[in-house]
Amino acid sequence: MFEAIDHTGVAVADLDASIPFYRDVLKLKIVHRETLAEQGVEAALFDIGVAHVELIAPLGPDGGVARFLEQRGPGLHHLAYRVDDIDAALATLSAAGVRLIDEQPRNGIRGSRVAFLHPSSSGGVLTEIVQPANHP
Ligand code: CO
Repeated sequence: MFEAIDHTGVAVADLDASIPFYRDVLKLKIVHRETLAEQGVEAALFDIGVAHVELIAPLGPDGGVARFLEQRGPGLHHLAYRVDDIDAALATLSAAGVRLIDEQPRNGIRGSRVAFLHPSSSGGVLTEIVQPANHP
């Protein structure tokens, strides 16, 4: 069901202030930047092999990422697995009794479809599944 680690999500307060470390010190290639207004976040994506590091910053004081920063500060936020069929993956996970944050996929960056599993079902790890836009 899972094909690869797609990305690790890192919560940051300020995208512009956080990009230089990844781009200039770690020398990761920044490949995308997008505001997802409906999710209340702005994201920057870096390539690392076949996977990515995704920086996410809240657009305002509300929403999950803003709450995360307030409670825990910046740092590791979620782990995302790549799937070829997100609808099938959600059905399989739901049938296995996994608590889902998203019963239906939502829009992710670069036209992807994404869904989050509740960390109470995954050992405290906020887990995302991603079906890339270019996936058949
Ligand atoms: Co993500």
